[in-house]
Amino acid sequence: MSTNITWHQSNVSREEREKLLGQKGLTVWFTGLSASGKSTIASALEKQLLQMKISSYRLDGDNIRFGLNKDLGFGQKDREENIRRIAEVAKLFADSTTISLTSFISPYKSDREIARKLHEDSGIPFVEVYIDAPLEVVEQRDPKGLYKKAKAGEIKEFTGISAPYEAPSSPEIHIHTDKTTVEESVKILIEFLAKNNYITIVN
Ligand code: ADX
Repeated sequence: MSTNITWHQSNVSREEREKLLGQKGLTVWFTGLSASGKSTIASALEKQLLQMKISSYRLDGDNIRFGLNKDLGFGQKDREENIRRIAEVAKLFADSTTISLTSFISPYKSDREIARKLHEDSGIPFVEVYIDAPLEVVEQRDPKGLYKKAKAGEIKEFTGISAPYEAPSSPEIHIHTDKTTVEESVKILIEFLAKNNYITIVN
């Protein structure tokens, strides 16, 4: 617990920063099972936004666990801390007017709600995207061989096998990756961002 600290207000308000840089910050929060397609779609969206000259930055579950969150495992408490830190970091990027894209399993509803509240309390939009693929499909894909190991009991507390995944009940966007291509998914996301005036499409 930190004590004797005082919040230092910036000389630039978020509104001013957004006006000066000509873009808005927000967080697009991808959630779904391992191998559901979160990172693939988030990567493709990141590229598309950058090509549109919109600053965007992706925070990815596996990658963040090599650095910032390398002290965390996969028990419920550690996943909660994983998501709490990511929510704070995503919020910082979004506050700087970047579009943060987070791709974490984030299996617990309550943790995602905390992430949402953290953003909304600061007036930063939070868009929850459920990347949905049936368990049989992700087990088939199994690009890292983790489902096989989890089923053999070699990985404990594996989401979907021996740890829960609580699906979002009202995400802003719901994509079924067994029926939607990556390109179609990016199109859905870009259209949502434009429709809500988070980005402007210039032809
Ligand atoms: S989260 O549940 O805390 O949000 P996160 O997205 O950071 O998870 O990390 C998930 C990635 O870690 C998976 O894509 C997989 O590669 C790897 N992983 C290793 N062990 C586990 C596990 N027990 N459950 C889920 N994913 C795991």
